[in-house]
Amino acid sequence: METKNKTPFFVSSLIFLLCCLARFCYGTDIIRQGKTMKDGDKLVSSDGVFELGFFSPENSRFRYVGIWYKVDMEAVVWVANRDKPMVNTNGVLRIGIDGNLVVLDGNRNLVWSSGVPGILSNTSSARLQKNGNLELLNNDTSEVIWDSFHHPTDTFLPGMKLPVSLSMGEVRFFRSWRSAIDPSYGNYSAGIIPNGGPQIVIWDQSGRRRWRSGQWNEVIFTGVSNMSNTASFLYGFKLSETDENGTRYFMYKPSNSSALSRFHIGYDGTERLLRWDGKNWTVLLSQPGNKCDLYNHCGNYATCDNFVSSSTCNCLEGFRPKFEDQWSKGNWSGGCERRTELECQRGKPDGFKRMKCMKLPDFSNIPVKSRDDCRQSCLGNCSCTAYAYVYGIGCMIWVGDLVDVQHIDQSGPIQFFYRLNHSDLDDKKKISNGVIVIISLVGACFLVAFLWLLWRYKKKLKVSSMVCCKDKDAVVFIEFSTEFSADFSGPSDILIDGNQVNRPELPIFNFSIVAAATNNFCEENKLGQGGFGAVYKGELPGGQEIAVKRLSRQSGQGLEEFKNEIILLAKLQHRNLVRLLGCCIQGEEKMLIYEYMPNKSLNNFLFAKQAVLDWRTRVGIIEGIARGLLYLHRDSRLRIIHRDLKASNILLDAEMNPKISDFGMARIFGGNQNEANTWIYVT
Ligand SMILES: *[C@@H]1O[C@H](CO)[C@@H](O)[C@H](O)[C@H]1NC(C)=O
Ligand SMILES: *[C@@H]1O[C@H](CO)[C@@H](O)[C@H](O)[C@H]1NC(C)=O
Ligand SMILES: *[C@@H]1O[C@H](CO)[C@@H](O)[C@H](O)[C@H]1NC(C)=O
Ligand SMILES: *[C@@H]1O[C@H](CO)[C@@H](O)[C@H](O)[C@H]1NC(C)=O
Ligand SMILES: *[C@@H]1O[C@H](CO)[C@@H](O)[C@H](O)[C@H]1NC(C)=O
Ligand SMILES: *[C@@H]1O[C@H](CO)[C@@H](O)[C@H](O)[C@H]1NC(C)=O
Ligand SMILES: *[C@@H]1O[C@H](CO)[C@@H](O)[C@H](O)[C@H]1NC(C)=O
Ligand SMILES: *[C@@H]1O[C@H](CO)[C@@H](O)[C@H](O)[C@H]1NC(C)=O
Ligand SMILES: *[C@@H]1O[C@H](CO)[C@@H](O)[C@H](O)[C@H]1NC(C)=O
Ligand SMILES: *[C@@H]1O[C@H](CO)[C@@H](O)[C@H](O)[C@H]1NC(C)=O
Repeated sequence: METKNKTPFFVSSLIFLLCCLARFCYGTDIIRQGKTMKDGDKLVSSDGVFELGFFSPENSRFRYVGIWYKVDMEAVVWVANRDKPMVNTNGVLRIGIDGNLVVLDGNRNLVWSSGVPGILSNTSSARLQKNGNLELLNNDTSEVIWDSFHHPTDTFLPGMKLPVSLSMGEVRFFRSWRSAIDPSYGNYSAGIIPNGGPQIVIWDQSGRRRWRSGQWNEVIFTGVSNMSNTASFLYGFKLSETDENGTRYFMYKPSNSSALSRFHIGYDGTERLLRWDGKNWTVLLSQPGNKCDLYNHCGNYATCDNFVSSSTCNCLEGFRPKFEDQWSKGNWSGGCERRTELECQRGKPDGFKRMKCMKLPDFSNIPVKSRDDCRQSCLGNCSCTAYAYVYGIGCMIWVGDLVDVQHIDQSGPIQFFYRLNHSDLDDKKKISNGVIVIISLVGACFLVAFLWLLWRYKKKLKVSSMVCCKDKDAVVFIEFSTEFSADFSGPSDILIDGNQVNRPELPIFNFSIVAAATNNFCEENKLGQGGFGAVYKGELPGGQEIAVKRLSRQSGQGLEEFKNEIILLAKLQHRNLVRLLGCCIQGEEKMLIYEYMPNKSLNNFLFAKQAVLDWRTRVGIIEGIARGLLYLHRDSRLRIIHRDLKASNILLDAEMNPKISDFGMARIFGGNQNEANTWIYVT
């Protein structure tokens, strides 16, 4: 009897052992009801990136249940029993009798529970997902009852969604460890405040703000010094569209999704974005990065400037230190106060002073989209101290003190205007008027001298291979390769009736502005694709719509057309030619910026049958094209043959006026050279 019973027992224990080995030693990603995970066992996500199990931080004798990267056990991304460590290795992790995931110590006392109340199903299971999320599932309905992404500790992982909603207010999602070896609740928390453009904030142990990211403008956090559009794009920060409950979700998804990446609030109160480079974690972002990043370091109405070593804190113009003696000793905490009170609506209206390259102050109201009355709505409210219209956020208004203003190295177009008694502004104007007069006198002298020199040496000057582009502040010369001039040599040179003075002048656009305008050249903004590269729709900070032709980096042949187009279009102006607004050249990137044509090309109407055109419109279009051609062929100073005139190169503006575009193939001909190899496509 006994021997008969023993064999199946051994067999079943062997099977159990094998199962155990298969499950825990070689990795499974699921715990089912009735199975127990002991200290030493691990769950491994199916792609082998994350592991869940028992661990002790280095130099600590306590045991915790947590999730870490397989490549680096010390990079713990989540801890279950952070404030209730176990003292020995007898703990277990299992699905409890109520269906919750629980951690029990050696005496089978509850150490931690996922804590979902009232689970009736006794068939739940837990799975470690590929993104590092530990999910508790109802086996019957496959519903996720609880997951670790909704109960994070100190790490923000790609795939996590942080809700941003006005009704929820500020939410502190993350809490730092107490020290490097102690995962219990530390001094710092991090989260999101939703109003205005949402910001990331770090709070200290007393709940005071320690750092804030500055308002999110849909591309970057406006208060982070080194956060260029490109960097933001690489890091992949994103705020989702508003859902039906008025909630948006903040996420991040690195552009290289195969690289391990985490965002982490350290026990020292520093938030870091880290990426695994195969051996180590590279720090991509670290905030606060310097003392100016510390919240309101210089007090109210003062700017903190990390770039000027002499004096870090300065009162805004029109303000003076509130406690002069403390301020001079380097105790900035008192901040600054107005020199002259505001008039409000009593006398002459107050004025505004513009600040550029600034972190926008904290505590703006909830922005409105309209731009027009931003200044007026500030002026009309006596408690309004500043306003800003920020592209991507809207019209922001500050009432009360201006808090946490910082000079940052942000080349973007962000600026704000703060309110001053007009007398504080007028003084400045008198001085600057004087300066302007002097500068203009000196400038006029130089101009006369320059023109005279030019006139003298006119004949000697060769055709130069430069295009002069005018920036806001400076004139920039962009040197093209020397073949440039060869292209246009011959009887009718590009600068045929000109000399240096007639060189095309074009505004240069900053790459970051173009990137912001086109949402980082996002696929949704793409209008079309040609051999030269892609065309994107964009909107400048002022609200002007633009079309951006971006030369693909590989196409060497596109470069010729690029130059050609700049030279021709910058010189030509006619209502039936598309208008070139500027160019953008930075490193490999070469872009042309045009006015945006809402009705796209004639192609769409003729062949894609977007809509049937009535005869009046057709005649208008035909006449417009003819006028444009007449201008090119006869009326302009240059005689230009387009050489690629086709329906897709006729663009239509909002009023269906035709505009000829794409001068990449065009050539200039001499006065007597009326016949040439020119064709018109009638596809
Ligand atoms: C689950 O609960 C039902 C009813 O309460 C019971 O019949 C069943 O045996 C339980 N199953 C397990 C695996 O505990
Ligand atoms: C959970 O569901 C799977 C199939 O969906 C089944 O094989 C398994 O036995 C179930 N587990 C429990 C504990 O009910
Ligand atoms: C946390 O705060 C306490 C009390 O303010 C302080 O003693 C401790 O040094 C702080 N720890 C860290 C890591 O800053
Ligand atoms: C909106 O709220 C309702 C009620 O709280 C909820 O049932 C629904 O799932 C929510 N919708 C989304 C998209 O979160
Ligand atoms: C993406 O990351 C992986 C792993 O770190 C690396 O091997 C690969 O070169 C990266 N790709 C790019 C385009 O950077
Ligand atoms: C990189 O890792 C090595 C060991 O793998 C370590 O010695 C070194 O200090 C690490 N470097 C940094 C910058 O953390
Ligand atoms: C920003 O960039 C500058 C120069 O590239 C560097 O010195 C500085 O440490 C960076 N700041 C942060 C916060 O990363
Ligand atoms: C700094 O100045 C404030 C008043 O502006 C004062 O209350 C505080 O005690 C000063 N701190 C030190 C360290 O002197
Ligand atoms: C604003 O400045 C003017 C001119 O200096 C002055 O007369 C007026 O009193 C100031 N307003 C207030 C409220 O102080
Ligand atoms: C000024 O703005 C504040 C804050 O938005 C508001 O509470 C107050 O009513 C406004 N005052 C007037 C006169 O509109």
